[in-house]
Amino acid sequence: MRVGVPREIKPDEYRVGLTPTAVREYVTHGHEVIVETGAGLGAGYGDAVYEKAGAKIVADAAAVFEGAELIVKVKEPQAVEWARLTPKHILFTYLHLAPDPAQAEGLLASGCAAIAYETVTDAQGGLPLLAPMSEVAGRLAVYSAGETLLKHNGGMGLLISGVPGVPPARICVLGGGVVGMNAARMAAGLGAEVVIVERSIPRMRQLDDMFQGRILTRYSTADAVDEEVLKADVVIGAVLTAGASAPKLVRKSHLKKMKPGSVLVDVSIDQGGCFETSHPTTHNDPTYTVDGVVHYCVANMPGAAPRTSSEALVHATLPFGLELADKGLDALKTNKHLAKGLNVLAGKLTHPAVAEALGKDFADPYGAWK
Ligand SMILES: NC(=O)c1ccc[n+]([C@@H]2O[C@H](COP(=O)([O-])OP(=O)(O)OC[C@H]3O[C@@H](n4cnc5c(N)ncnc54)[C@H](O)[C@@H]3O)[C@@H](O)[C@H]2O)c1
Repeated sequence: MRVGVPREIKPDEYRVGLTPTAVREYVTHGHEVIVETGAGLGAGYGDAVYEKAGAKIVADAAAVFEGAELIVKVKEPQAVEWARLTPKHILFTYLHLAPDPAQAEGLLASGCAAIAYETVTDAQGGLPLLAPMSEVAGRLAVYSAGETLLKHNGGMGLLISGVPGVPPARICVLGGGVVGMNAARMAAGLGAEVVIVERSIPRMRQLDDMFQGRILTRYSTADAVDEEVLKADVVIGAVLTAGASAPKLVRKSHLKKMKPGSVLVDVSIDQGGCFETSHPTTHNDPTYTVDGVVHYCVANMPGAAPRTSSEALVHATLPFGLELADKGLDALKTNKHLAKGLNVLAGKLTHPAVAEALGKDFADPYGAWK
């Protein structure tokens, strides 16, 4: 199959759908890969590296969409890209269609098959193509907290690790899923005191085993949140209730009682945030202060590390992408987890939750595959 990689055109997006290493894998499987010139530059991969891996470099996105059947991207297609999609295309990328009726209309009108990374599943009931970005965001959250705690960035002037004779920061992580566990790992590695507030007992048992007593876990109640948030120098918000907005665990009334110059990092901001006072910020202007507490609420944290994020994403997407390239849409017949990714096919919405969120009919022509 001919596989196309256009340059990402959403503002502030520097990741790329396929790294040169991934291109080589597709080429080894007998596929032709077409890459738009400059597609990998933001992540540090020049055209020459792609050519060495076996890709053909083309001058613009139009040539990618014209020449390829399988389009591998990172972010949801933008309006100019919907117009380039046709019934011959399989689009494989993050879509987040539920809150985006305009994009849904664009994809339905194109006649393409669109497979969303975020709804592909795994045998454990997880979302394997979302997890790598949560890993990046969780680890980055501690870097960002460390920077923000410094005096010149508005923080209280605390070094996370402390030094001999001076205690480290106390970091409270709300939610011990993929983001929370990765944040806790970084924080513990830096020598911080770490507590994870979680509502799943099996998950707390896993975390307790994993960290061998290096961190504390606490069952999530209003009392536990009150106590831990007031004790913390940093609170990292990492809760998720699947399909719903994040619960507001930290209220505005907490802020005045918190330590002045303490830091809130709301990783859950892409689901509305778990602090009442959160609003989305950008890498160019990541923080703001409310009642003496500095808020960091960047909605696309992995975008700050496009090299690491592209590699991590590609490792997760590669087996599915290769299957699509090898078998076309027939891959959905044999791989029920990949089939769960199908959101749009031939002008119909084929994911029940997406159809429901958009108030549209759900079509299940491939029920037998799922
Ligand atoms: N800002 C970014 O750039 C960025 C990047 C990646 C992920 N995220 C977001 O981070 C959030 C967490 O993602 P994840 O992959 O870790 O999800 P996850 O499902 O792996 O973990 C969420 C955890 O929150 C726990 N939880 C739910 N309600 C709770 C409550 N009231 N109190 C305590 N714990 C509670 C769950 O039990 C679960 O363990 C999501 O909203 C995700 O979209 C943001």
